[in-house]
Amino acid sequence: MKYLVTGGAGFIGSNFIYHILAEHPEDRVVCLDKLTYAGNLVTLERAFADPRFSFVKGDICDKAAVDKLFAREKFDFAVNFAAESHVDRSISDPQIFLTTNVIGTQVLLNASLNYGVKRFHQISTDEVYGDLPTDSGAAFSEVSPLRASSPYSASKAAADLLVMAYCRTYGANVSISRSSNNYGAYQLPEKLIPLTIQRALAGESIPVYGDGLNVRDWLHVKDHCRAVDLILRRGRAGAIYNVGGGNELANIQIVRRVLSLLGCSESLITYVADRKGHDRRYAVDCSKIRSELGWTPQTDFDAGLEKTVRWYVKNTKWLRAVSSKNC
Ligand SMILES: NC(=O)c1ccc[n+]([C@@H]2O[C@H](COP(=O)([O-])OP(=O)(O)OC[C@H]3O[C@@H](n4cnc5c(N)ncnc54)[C@H](O)[C@@H]3O)[C@@H](O)[C@H]2O)c1
Repeated sequence: MKYLVTGGAGFIGSNFIYHILAEHPEDRVVCLDKLTYAGNLVTLERAFADPRFSFVKGDICDKAAVDKLFAREKFDFAVNFAAESHVDRSISDPQIFLTTNVIGTQVLLNASLNYGVKRFHQISTDEVYGDLPTDSGAAFSEVSPLRASSPYSASKAAADLLVMAYCRTYGANVSISRSSNNYGAYQLPEKLIPLTIQRALAGESIPVYGDGLNVRDWLHVKDHCRAVDLILRRGRAGAIYNVGGGNELANIQIVRRVLSLLGCSESLITYVADRKGHDRRYAVDCSKIRSELGWTPQTDFDAGLEKTVRWYVKNTKWLRAVSSKNC
């Protein structure tokens, strides 16, 4: 099989590339990435050593370049991880989120349809459903209404609707996964866990929004990659699958656990003004992917978090390289 992986120089896309190269020795991967502030070639260093991997610098919104790439490479699968992914940035500058996350997805859908791609898979998010009260045990299913709260999640919801419209209108072979918060190696230190680690290692204050009690469900990135791989190969065409870790924790609990693993003082925690429109709690019901595809998350959260913290401590060179470009 030949994969197009867009956004592969970012956090989850790079982990997916490493997953495919390790798990499917016959498969080849082409990564298309614009190398925005969030994309770093250093993240793909190990992939470059593999002859089954190649990299193309480019923008998913550039129709001419995308069409040329699809015509040349004849992909079996196209997996779209490319996105503007940071909620805070979407609040201060929403337009690029619409361009990349919506128009870019449409350009890829069109090319997938026109150049015989067997399956287009869209990487979406649990944030498209909006939030839930902290005191409810409810969880969103794949048929829950889309009630996105931020410009980021609204752009992801718009992309999901387009993907389903291409399926219904043109018969495109598509699937969507909506995952909860990922953690693991190669995540930029603008996101909660690596930010906490980076700041704690430097002895700097760690900002926590509002009362710190906003709840997220944490999924190890490797479990997410396994889910996407399964959906591509065995998931039904036109289906949407929720993918969650079943590890609901308040942001302040995450920060405290990371500090404890690092042996750092909680006095570094600094509460700051809440994010505008801050979603309170996310939770997804994953019974569909469990029953249809037999997927379950394999990483125990405590062990996964400890391993993740150790990875960042060991890879300060990577952390410095991506920070000097971005932060
Ligand atoms: N990180 C999470 O916890 C999480 C959870 C659920 C869903 N998602 C979704 O997963 C996907 C990947 O997220 P991530 O955290 O790895 O993001 P990331 O910000 O780490 O990486 C995004 C990548 O996309 C590339 N990119 C951005 N605009 C592009 C464009 N126009 N053309 C080509 N490449 C472009 C960047 O250079 C970068 O390499 C996103 O679609 C995001 O919405 C993320």
